[in-house]
Amino acid sequence: MTKRITDKVTWVGKIDWELQRFHGDEYSINRGSSYNSYLIRDEKVALIDTVWEPFDEEFVTNLKKEIDLDKIDFIIANHGEIDHSGALAALMREIPDTPIYCTANGEKSIKGQFHQDWNFVNVKTGDTIDLGESKLIFLEAPMLHWPDTMFCYLTGENILFSNDGFGQHYASESLFNDTVCQSELYDEAIKYYANILTPFSSFVTKKINEILGMNLPIDMICPSHGVVWRDNPTQIVEKYLEWADDYSENQITLVYDTMWDGTRKMAEAIAKGIELADPNVKIKLYNAAKTDKNDILTEVFKSKTIVVGSPTINNGLLYSIAGILEMIRGLKLKGKKAAAFGCYGWSGESIKLITAALKESKFEIINDGLRTKWVPDEDATDVCIEFGKEIAGA
Ligand code: FEO
Repeated sequence: MTKRITDKVTWVGKIDWELQRFHGDEYSINRGSSYNSYLIRDEKVALIDTVWEPFDEEFVTNLKKEIDLDKIDFIIANHGEIDHSGALAALMREIPDTPIYCTANGEKSIKGQFHQDWNFVNVKTGDTIDLGESKLIFLEAPMLHWPDTMFCYLTGENILFSNDGFGQHYASESLFNDTVCQSELYDEAIKYYANILTPFSSFVTKKINEILGMNLPIDMICPSHGVVWRDNPTQIVEKYLEWADDYSENQITLVYDTMWDGTRKMAEAIAKGIELADPNVKIKLYNAAKTDKNDILTEVFKSKTIVVGSPTINNGLLYSIAGILEMIRGLKLKGKKAAAFGCYGWSGESIKLITAALKESKFEIINDGLRTKWVPDEDATDVCIEFGKEIAGA
């Protein structure tokens, strides 16, 4: 299947409805994804990106139906990661001498994966190729989200091809932002930003301001995953600026795991205390062992404060909490507050361990945390409620 984007641009990618995990097990996929590849036909022909490797033969077969491969003058590899470069080997078997335009780091990435000495042409910001009526302008975009990433802009059609930037792991048959469920699109776009781009927020702000400063008209943004932004395309740019600016909502999220329900009871009492103190704050509770980790990270991203709980086991933490704390560390969040809690029977180290991890992740620690021996009784539950009030007031 291919899809017309404009008279000159055709989508020639792959919709992956069955995808469930991405980057190994690092990212959960709830609504499929797509690997977007774009064919630009002017007097010259350019192909932007390919698809993930399992679909390489299907991609080349479909592309052949769309165009005689020998007519492709330029291959643009905006990013070397395998979900976009995966079909290069199959494609280059057909057209081995076609130049591949990419950044110097892009060449390293592609060579490192395919070990082929293809005809690479390194480009930098401001370099262009003439396609005839239109031209492609290259824009390096390191750390959006890997060092090799670049965007390119098609004049005349006024399209920004932004690779992973502004993408979403969201499969749709229609492929346009105005013809899909808006709440699903928002959920997938913010989950994608929270989990993939948050560590690089300073680069996001800088790159967007650089592009806005170029005063390029933008009629469409074509990312490499999910929908094409054609209706009010800069809405996602505005959202990125907001999300990149130490984003938080009036939300407090409790993330815990529990062995025999003691820490769960603490979490629920703390939530009650927060609600009593501030009925307007959104409160969310997640058992990290039972809830999708990437959905939890999205809620952490939205929160002004998080409260993390684990009982003590073997002088340490339950592994779901140790794991989510490691993922939170990697996000490099700023401007958020945190506290720890948990019940214990004997040694009770979990609070100190959680607090230390949150401190290392640059959260402002509200207090020393709350430990409860054994399962909380009525008095201990009241202490949890008071602890919740303190969190709300922090
Ligand atoms: Fe960074 Fe979609 O690959």
